[in-house]
Amino acid sequence: MKILNFGSLNIDIFFRVEEIVKPGETISAKSIEKRPGGKGLNQSVALAKSFDKVYHAGSVGGDGLYLIDYLKKENVDTKYIKQSEKLTGNAIIQVDDKGENSIVLYKGANFDNDEEFIDKVLDDFGENDVLVLQNEINSMKYLIDRAYEKNMKIVLNPSPITDRIKEFDYEKIDLILVNEHEAASISRKKTNDEKIAYFKNTYPNLKVVMTLGSKGSIFIAKDEKIKQDSFKVKALDTTGAGDTFTGYFVSYFYQGKDVKEAMEIASKASALSVTKKGASISIPSLDDVKNFERSDV
Ligand code: RIB
Repeated sequence: MKILNFGSLNIDIFFRVEEIVKPGETISAKSIEKRPGGKGLNQSVALAKSFDKVYHAGSVGGDGLYLIDYLKKENVDTKYIKQSEKLTGNAIIQVDDKGENSIVLYKGANFDNDEEFIDKVLDDFGENDVLVLQNEINSMKYLIDRAYEKNMKIVLNPSPITDRIKEFDYEKIDLILVNEHEAASISRKKTNDEKIAYFKNTYPNLKVVMTLGSKGSIFIAKDEKIKQDSFKVKALDTTGAGDTFTGYFVSYFYQGKDVKEAMEIASKASALSVTKKGASISIPSLDDVKNFERSDV
């Protein structure tokens, strides 16, 4: 089994602020830092912390080639990342004193994945392999259709929310990882029980992980329902916590580990990630997550 993550690569510019700027306001940042990011890149880093055959596909501009070196150092195979003539994707991220964030994205090279490129990458993958997608690149429908034809297992984290997440063919997807807002946007339902019922009734074969913030997370598949509490930590920066959860869960789940174990490791990894600044650089090592596991939290 190989895991292919076809996803975004961003240059994240973090502004540390007291409070997130309001319309019409001008505020000063306490610090500014440039770091590797993008939901795709972050998830590849998290996947590779606990699995050794992780491949990242996507596009960067000439200004973002160092993102490829960064992924290589994190044990991600980068042979399917191409250089685009566009600028690399950028994220302007404000993080406030409570650790909450607000993000402006520039898609750039992340929307430069054409069908020929996708076909070439997918040629090397097949039935036992997993394709991981987020909602930060173009050609999503094409990717889902082609990977489905090849019998790959398709995992979707439809984040960030845009109108097109209502249009994806969830029949073709094996697993989605959503937060409450994404679940509401797809299902058009208000309560979590209604959202769960929607997924179960409309897509009986779809496995769903719904994260519930401080209330933990829940895994639903046919008649299976597994609840996981969240781990309480002091949040310094929540950026990338969802990506950390996704990467760890997907890697454990598709390695055939017990779902409960996968939910627990993913929750612990994402809790640990918010205790550090940054997105990809805050993703903990498997050893750190296991040590956290042993501590009395
Ligand atoms: O999920 C966090 C990520 O969202 C950041 O790294 C940023 O690049 C945006 O894509």
